[in-house]
Amino acid sequence: MSEALMGVYNRAPLEVERGNGMWLHTRDGRAFLDCVAGIATNCLGHAHPRLVAALEEQARKLWHVSNIFRIPGQEELAARLVGATFADAVFFGNSGSEAVECALKAARRYHAVNGAPERIDIVGFAGSFHGRTYAAVNASGNPAYLDGFGPRLPGYVQLTIDDRAAIDEAVRRPTTAAVIVEPVQGEGGARALDGEWLSWLRRLCDAHGVLLIHDEVQSGMGRTGRLFAHQWFDGAEPDIMAVAKALGGGFPIGACLATAAVAGAMTVGAHGSTFGGNPLAMAVGIAAFDEIAREETLANVRAASDRLTTGLRDLVARFPDVAIDVRGKGLLIGIRMVPNNREIMALARDHALLVAGGGENCIRLLPPLTITLDEADEVLRRIEATFAAARVRFAAAA
Ligand SMILES: Cc1ncc(COP(=O)(O)O)c(C=O)c1O
Repeated sequence: MSEALMGVYNRAPLEVERGNGMWLHTRDGRAFLDCVAGIATNCLGHAHPRLVAALEEQARKLWHVSNIFRIPGQEELAARLVGATFADAVFFGNSGSEAVECALKAARRYHAVNGAPERIDIVGFAGSFHGRTYAAVNASGNPAYLDGFGPRLPGYVQLTIDDRAAIDEAVRRPTTAAVIVEPVQGEGGARALDGEWLSWLRRLCDAHGVLLIHDEVQSGMGRTGRLFAHQWFDGAEPDIMAVAKALGGGFPIGACLATAAVAGAMTVGAHGSTFGGNPLAMAVGIAAFDEIAREETLANVRAASDRLTTGLRDLVARFPDVAIDVRGKGLLIGIRMVPNNREIMALARDHALLVAGGGENCIRLLPPLTITLDEADEVLRRIEATFAAARVRFAAAA
């Protein structure tokens, strides 16, 4: 590994060179079936022709102008997002963390301009991941990501999903601004929250004038088989939502969506970004949105998810010494492992399969939304071979 790079990543020893659909090719000529997809980002697979064409066409016209001008692509993509969700307005950034940052700022600002500047506390949950900016790591509260970065910021409260009494108490406090939650916890290990809990939280926030933020950076844009995960449930809509990853199909982009009431607090000068919403990102984002929002794409996610989860449950039953259970929603799938998940990820690579890690010792499958049923079957065959190899390896070590 190059010493000229900060050593913040635990990288797999693969020099990746190009991708095509579900396949990722390395410099040394190997091909891997890719169930990482840039961590739920390359949602239409690698080098999707429509996205490539959109990027090439825009690249010849205009890359960047800054937000001191009207950018038609921003208005178009915002109209699509508003048309498909609870939201009335959108702010574009470049990443998930920035989308979360904007969401947290918008929540506090909403209360400040509505006569309650004391409402600054953000309630977040154990097992969440909201990104790596100071605000995002404080909202997630994971000690591993806070260590060595000075004191924790004031105004962040950490609770557990299952402790309804503590959540109720926190939301009632007059200093609480917002609750932030991932409808499906991604990095935390593909934990899907149920609709009853999400709508209970919505009602609780409404009752006490607290804003509800959904972080759908990972679960959004078709990943669960609906455009957004919360749309599976009635009465679960947020006031603010962070979106990124699949929104650009692999091109860096993030968006913070909000109701008119919240967006109304974000007046001129309240927030901004140099690159956010640049013409290149918008051109790809519009093309990606139109592909993802097609009913055929979302139906494919549901069908592939059924195929994969059925097959994986069967494998878990046959390999109880290797895998514990299957969880998640749609194509955000987690398998809790008995051996260390990093060892399983390495064994999967030996079978030319790429899978991601996750909390609670999970491996995560995050294939593109366009995965075919044949490809899903091939994924299952490679996982079976991986589990069989794990059984031999870890039985021998025991
Ligand atoms: C739910 C969630 N929120 C926020 C982020 C941060 O996004 P980014 O890495 O683009 O800043 C991630 C990244 O994995 C995520 O999964």
